[in-house]
Amino acid sequence: MQNIDTYTHTRGESVYLDDIPVTRGTLYGAVCPSPSAHGIIRNLDIAEAGQMPGVVKILTYRDIPGKNQIGGIIPDEPLMAETKVHYHGMPLAFVVAETAEAAYAAVQKIRIDIDALPVITDPREAREKGELIVPPRTFRLGDSGKAMKECAYVISGTAETNGQEHLYIETQGAYALPVEGGHIKIYSSTQGPTAVQRHAADVLGISMSRIEVDVTRLGGGFGGKEDQATSWAVFCALAAFHLKRPVKYSLHRMEDMRMTGKRNPYSSDFTIGLDKDLNILAYEATFHQNAGASADLSPAVLERTLFHCTNSYYIPHVTATAYSCRTNLPPNTAFRGFGGPQGMFVIEAAIHKAAETIGVPATVIQQKNLIATGQQFPYGQVAVSEAAPCWKKAVDSYDANGMIREVEQFNSENRLKKKGLSFMPICFGISFTKTPMNQARALVHVYADGSVNVSTGAVEMGQGVNTKMLQVASVVLSLPVHRIKINTTNTYRIANTSPSAASATADLNGKAVEIACRAILDRLIEVAASVLNAGKADIHLQDERVYVSGQPSPLSWNELIQAAYIKRVSLSEHAHYATPGLHFDGTKEKGHPFAYHVYGTAVTTVTVDCVRGIYDIDSVKIIHDVGSTMNENIDRGQIEGGLVQGIGWMTMEEIVYDREGRLRSNALSTYKVPDIYSVPAEISLQFNETENDNLAIFRSKAVGEPPLMYGIGTYFALRNAIKAFNPSSNIGYSAPMTPEKVLMGLYSHRS
Ligand code: MTE
Ligand code: HPA
Ligand code: MOS
Repeated sequence: MQNIDTYTHTRGESVYLDDIPVTRGTLYGAVCPSPSAHGIIRNLDIAEAGQMPGVVKILTYRDIPGKNQIGGIIPDEPLMAETKVHYHGMPLAFVVAETAEAAYAAVQKIRIDIDALPVITDPREAREKGELIVPPRTFRLGDSGKAMKECAYVISGTAETNGQEHLYIETQGAYALPVEGGHIKIYSSTQGPTAVQRHAADVLGISMSRIEVDVTRLGGGFGGKEDQATSWAVFCALAAFHLKRPVKYSLHRMEDMRMTGKRNPYSSDFTIGLDKDLNILAYEATFHQNAGASADLSPAVLERTLFHCTNSYYIPHVTATAYSCRTNLPPNTAFRGFGGPQGMFVIEAAIHKAAETIGVPATVIQQKNLIATGQQFPYGQVAVSEAAPCWKKAVDSYDANGMIREVEQFNSENRLKKKGLSFMPICFGISFTKTPMNQARALVHVYADGSVNVSTGAVEMGQGVNTKMLQVASVVLSLPVHRIKINTTNTYRIANTSPSAASATADLNGKAVEIACRAILDRLIEVAASVLNAGKADIHLQDERVYVSGQPSPLSWNELIQAAYIKRVSLSEHAHYATPGLHFDGTKEKGHPFAYHVYGTAVTTVTVDCVRGIYDIDSVKIIHDVGSTMNENIDRGQIEGGLVQGIGWMTMEEIVYDREGRLRSNALSTYKVPDIYSVPAEISLQFNETENDNLAIFRSKAVGEPPLMYGIGTYFALRNAIKAFNPSSNIGYSAPMTPEKVLMGLYSHRS
């Protein structure tokens, strides 16, 4: 089945925030951002700006009737600055005007006096100064200190990963409309409608029941709209509340890039210990997460870094500690993988460094230490592993040994071009790491004409979740898809939603749809049994008809619905799903946090031009663990898209803040993202299909985030090519591997 959005997407008819027809009297907002990264506000003069043509009102924190607070995990983030600013771009005021142009013009006229304070942008410096968002956390298995002493090889090093701009095609924005009684309806481009509802209620000082949030779809979120869609929505709601007029704010790209947080950069230390047979016995890592100026989702991101710090390897002795460090950058946030990729990069760096030091290929260490079913992750969950099968299939189906020989052959014949090859196994836990978030609800109505309407808490952001929800209803009710409509996501229909995130949206909401549809189906079968004088067990539905003992009956779906209505049987159901079996004890850092894990292996080959430092990605060949896919088109799209986004993070996307905490890579001219020319010349993809029971919807494993981590393979393939040219290169483990960095690596030498 194709994605149901493809038709309207290709015709330009899909509705995003900016396509909602505006109501008469709509006003436009713009944020006045802090011009400095850290300081004390001496004066904020809005008098002249307030006199500008078209300006209706300028809101500051003084206009907040409720709480000036939008922190999701920790209440440490004001909607608007009061006495201090903590990052460049932090909102100081919200200008509301008759047009967007008038609002932006007035922003320029606001006078701000700030006494500068020292700016921290480096997470290690923040840690030294005691600037931590939350206390550090340590995951422990066995006794790594003792085990290190027994190792034949002990290798230490550092690894760095930079941030990543989400670059959703649709920028952040919201549209709020006043409703009678001082209530507000908000259209928001958010992954978390309930977060918007909750914070709007807190800021306005009214109850959540008076705030309706509605989402049709997003032009991409990638984690950037899990928490950070909230402020714009709350600004609009606040203005609509005061002015009793609709208020819209749709950010310009440069505003969005400058004011929003990104993937958390990490600076990490590692020590890895192996025995003489190359078994990894011990691993120690210290992670310094650059959280930015407030917590946002960083504490949860930090936790997932620890969960994934051993990637798909079994290591019996592990000590991993993570620090969430407060800096004067915009608060960093969720980004596809949610801290997992940052942790996985470090163990891969450790293995590669060990391999180089010992003088064996990294693949030998990687393969030897893949986690097997029954072995334990450092947090106590026991693996049901597809790591080795995926690796083996990659070797067999793609003739990886032949590829390795070709690379060696090429490198022996070419002096100024070198190829590199890498294997990248992945392992990603599915479930929100915060156990209570693993719940969802669905509301299904069958109308009297036999058509069906489905609401869930799932937000469509291009990942195809609406199509999967439709498939669930269609399969359970045995109805063709054209009879089923998936609704917008709305907090008045579905309450207390978890954000669409953690790759778990289809599983959580899909299970709720399945339960709701089955409940309705059970009632319908009872009606059919009584109408047809048959046993319930003999009845099934197929192609919009009731079948009895495998034979079509005269009763059609529409007639069955009519019969149920006449008999006053409910044709609606609201269902709740909570993932079973999850638990986690934060005091011990042990438990069973994930419903299941997703595995896979990517084999990447690259060619480096050793004169210029530029490179091509020749091929990425993937075996991906889908369980049993329910939609091959969508899963392929997610895997290819995730891979390319991961390659972007690892190779070309380079976020640069200056010492004053100002974003220099603030436009697409200075921030390079993968385009069609940067996509690998060949992407091969095969599914590892399994029969085991898992907790995925229709056994079709979550696919949103895990493929991003295949991109890490490109980094190491490039590194291997550099080493083939210059074995004594002193190139470290610092991503992204830009062409500049490749060039330096080609001609640098270890001292
Ligand atoms: N795919 C598209 N096209 N657009 C997106 O914004 N977000 C990713 C992933 N794939 C995203 C995407 C992220 S960060 C997550 S967590 C999942 O989709 C969320 O959706 P799911 O839970 O339905 O997989
Ligand atoms: N993943 C993504 N988003 C989240 C998570 C998670 O584990 N926890 C809270 N928000
Ligand atoms: Mo995805 S980072 O969990 O929105």
